[in-house]
Amino acid sequence: MVYRSEPLDPARHDLSGFDSGEPELDRWLRDHAAGAGARRVARTFVWVEPDSHPDRAVGYYSLAGHRLIREDLPRSIGRGSPTEVPAVLLARLALDRIHHGGGNGGALLADALARIVVATDIVAARFVVVDALHEKAAGFYQHHGFRRIPDTRRLIQKVSDIAAALDVD
Ligand SMILES: CC(C)(COP(=O)(O)OP(=O)(O)OC[C@H]1O[C@@H](n2cnc3c(N)ncnc32)[C@H](O)[C@@H]1OP(=O)(O)O)[C@@H](O)C(=O)NCCC(=O)NCCS
Repeated sequence: MVYRSEPLDPARHDLSGFDSGEPELDRWLRDHAAGAGARRVARTFVWVEPDSHPDRAVGYYSLAGHRLIREDLPRSIGRGSPTEVPAVLLARLALDRIHHGGGNGGALLADALARIVVATDIVAARFVVVDALHEKAAGFYQHHGFRRIPDTRRLIQKVSDIAAALDVD
């Protein structure tokens, strides 16, 4: 199925039935995503099922600016960075359970990363950062090229590597 990817519009998008299997992520979308957007704390984008009325959200991700400290990074990753490194935080990402599998989660992640590459042409960031909710999620991000910061569930990937992999400029 081809989904529409669009900025969250609480007046139009139906979030009521969203069920990713992670209640915390479902509640955040329903109760906090719009407020976070209004306060410019995080931008949320949703996937909408074509031909659904009202526009039903079946996936989402949230993005925010972030700052990494080079000393906190493994040397092989931090090399070449300034002391404080601009980054983008992939703060949340979830797909409705009905749509799990078959590469949909990977496609949702690719959509988020493509938006980040475009955004960082205007506001620079060197890395994308994600704090995985659990080991299974960490495995998903590692599968997609993120490198884990040892002894944490924090994973990062260079924006330049993402741009090259996605062929986005
Ligand atoms: C995480 C989530 C988006 C993944 O979506 P999905 O549709 O189940 O995953 P996909 O089918 O797209 O899997 C994509 C690829 O990652 C791989 N993958 C998925 N989970 C993995 C894991 N735990 N370890 C390693 N690889 C994994 C798949 O094998 C697949 O590989 P392929 O593209 O080479 O076939 C989805 O399970 C979800 O919304 N979960 C609830 C919310 C959540 O946990 N979010 C993460 C919060 S940090």
